[in-house]
Parts: sequence; structure tokens; C-alpha cells
Amino acid sequence: VSIDKAGHKHFMAKEIAEQPAVVGEAIAHYLPAGDDTVRLPGEGIDFSGVSRLVLVACGTAYYACLTAKYWFEQIARLPVEVDVASEFRYREPPVPAGTVALFVSQSGETADTLAALRYCRGKAEKILSVVNVPESSIARESDLALPIHAGVEVGVASTKAFTCQLTVLLILALKAAADRGQINAETLADHIAAIRGLPQLMNVALDDGETVRRAAQWLADTRDVLFLGRGMMYPLALEGALKLKEISYIHAEAYASGELKHGPIALIDPTMPVVVLAPMDPLFDKTVSNMQEVMARKGKVLLISDEAGLETARDGVWVTVKMPDVAPLLSPILYALPAQLLAYHTAVAKGTDVDQPRNLAKSVTVE
Ligand code: G6P
Repeated sequence: VSIDKAGHKHFMAKEIAEQPAVVGEAIAHYLPAGDDTVRLPGEGIDFSGVSRLVLVACGTAYYACLTAKYWFEQIARLPVEVDVASEFRYREPPVPAGTVALFVSQSGETADTLAALRYCRGKAEKILSVVNVPESSIARESDLALPIHAGVEVGVASTKAFTCQLTVLLILALKAAADRGQINAETLADHIAAIRGLPQLMNVALDDGETVRRAAQWLADTRDVLFLGRGMMYPLALEGALKLKEISYIHAEAYASGELKHGPIALIDPTMPVVVLAPMDPLFDKTVSNMQEVMARKGKVLLISDEAGLETARDGVWVTVKMPDVAPLLSPILYALPAQLLAYHTAVAKGTDVDQPRNLAKSVTVE
């Protein structure tokens, strides 16, 4: 395969821009047109007898798993445990009957994730993986490997693999919900229609990169950034902070908004930018009240929300980034884009090596 930057300054920029197309690819594979059911490769999996799901991964793939926990628990009513592979593998966790273990890995070669998979061999009912490389070790050693169809990802900071992982995990959660009788055919069809609309919304979200670019010029001069989100926006806050620290070397951390008062509020001052990820969803008011606590302490807020959200809560906010309206279940996938762009433009403004950040490797095949 010949891979070039296709006119972009960096692979990361190209991979961010490719997301509507590759997410569309993933959707076409799992939700083929003309049918309102989920199609899995091979023998697939039936979740009706599954009592517990364990999700294990590293890095960005781990944050995809944390997001998926919300989906599997809320829609499929399936209890989910999520862990980083390096902790899971040494904890000797019990894997009771009825457990399905699912490993998420872009490369399919991460040493800790592979070791965690091998630990589950013979214990879990079934071993699934969500991978970008179908020939990888993790794919080969799984009972069922679900490819994400993101295409080759070159940038060390994962972008399109993350949104494709999320897309496949959401579709799998819908399959689980249908298998377990938690949603009927009509609701499933509604969710599927919403997912099919996602690439178009992603195009709209990418169009408005200019506001993010301008905000990034300012972020480039700061030392610390805090990301806040609630519900499914919490794992995305973690991923946004990870992206920023990986490529811009700015210290960034993320908190569940409700935890603000239990520590990070002590850090807030006029030099501390706080990125708030808050679509207008049932948790919106709660996140906004946390955001107001930040502003009351003169923290600078960058609010990423939709039209309704910005209309309600823009007073006193430093920068607003407007997102298209999206079904609440899909918001982590769509809101990943401004989070990635923010990290990208900040790193460009700082002049760091965006595609090859210091001390990091694309794939960590040794422990
Ligand atoms: C490295 C990469 C990350 C990636 C993580 C897990 O740290 O730099 O981008 O998220 O490994 O990799 P995997 O291939 O298992 O998804």
C-alpha cells in the first residue's frame, strides 16, 4: 500500500479528515444497506446468554472501551467491566461463567492487551476483538475478530481508529440490546438510521475547524488544561486530554464534571483553560452548573456544544465551538472530532512533531 499525506501537512490531519469516509466504511460493513439488522462476520455472537462483558485495552482504545461501557449498560442492560490491559493481566481477575471478553486494539499487537487476551483463554465464554489489522496476533487469537475498517493509521496519536472503534462498539451494543430483548425492531431501526447519518454530521463538524484553530493558538501558550464531561462525554474528556498531552506536551487531565468539587476546582484560576464537552442531553444542566463554578473562579471555558446548548449557556464562556445536533448515543463519536482538532492545532501552533511525538510509539509490542 502506498500511503501519502494526500495534500495534508501531517498524517494526523489527513486521518482526522478521513473520518467521515472510514466511519462510513465501518457502517457499511456492519449495517449493510437495505436491511435494518446488524451483520457480524463469521458466526457472529449471540448475547442473549451472556451475563457479563469484560473490555480490555490500552491508550486510546481503552477510552473507546470506557465509552462502550455506557452503551452496553444503558442499551443492552449488560454489566460491563473495563480495565487497562497492564492492570487486568496481573490482577488475576475472576472470569465467571457467562463472561465474554472483548479486546480493542488498533494494531492488534499491543503486548499487554495480547497477554490479557491469553489470560482469558479457557476462562471466558468467548473472546472477541475489535481491531484495525485483521492479520494481527490479537485478531488471530480471538474467537471472533471485528475489523474497524479504518485503513492504515500512521499518526502516532490515534484518531480515525478511535472513531471507527467507537462505531463498531456502538453497533455491537445495539446487537447485544436486540439479542437480549432490550430494544424492539423499530427502536433498532431508529438507532441504525441515526448511525447511517453520522458521516454527514462528521463532515459538518470538520467544516468548522477554524474556531478550534483560533482557540488552539491561545492554548499553545498554556501549561495545564482541564477537560470536563459527564456520562459518555467523560471518557471523551479523557481522550481529549490524552490527545493534547501526546502531541502538544501540554499537561492535560480530564475529570468527570461531578468530581470537579472533589479536587480539580482548587487548580482553577485565570490561566487555566477548561474544555467542557456538553451536548444538550439529559445531563446538560448538571455539566453547565459545574462549568459555572469554573467561571466563578475566573477559569477560561471552551464550551463544545450544540445550538440549543450554546443558546442556554454561552454567557461568560471564553470560546464556543458549535456542533451539529446529534442523537445522544452518537455524541461521543461526533465530539471526538473537535477534541482531536484542538490537540492537532495546538501542537501545530507549538511546532511539535505531530506525527512522531517524542518518546511515544505507534504500537507497543514489548511490555
Ligand atoms: C500506543 C499508541 C496509542 C494506542 C495504544 C494502544 O500507546 O501510541 O495511540 O492507543 O498504543 O495501541 P493499540 O494498537 O493496542 O490500539
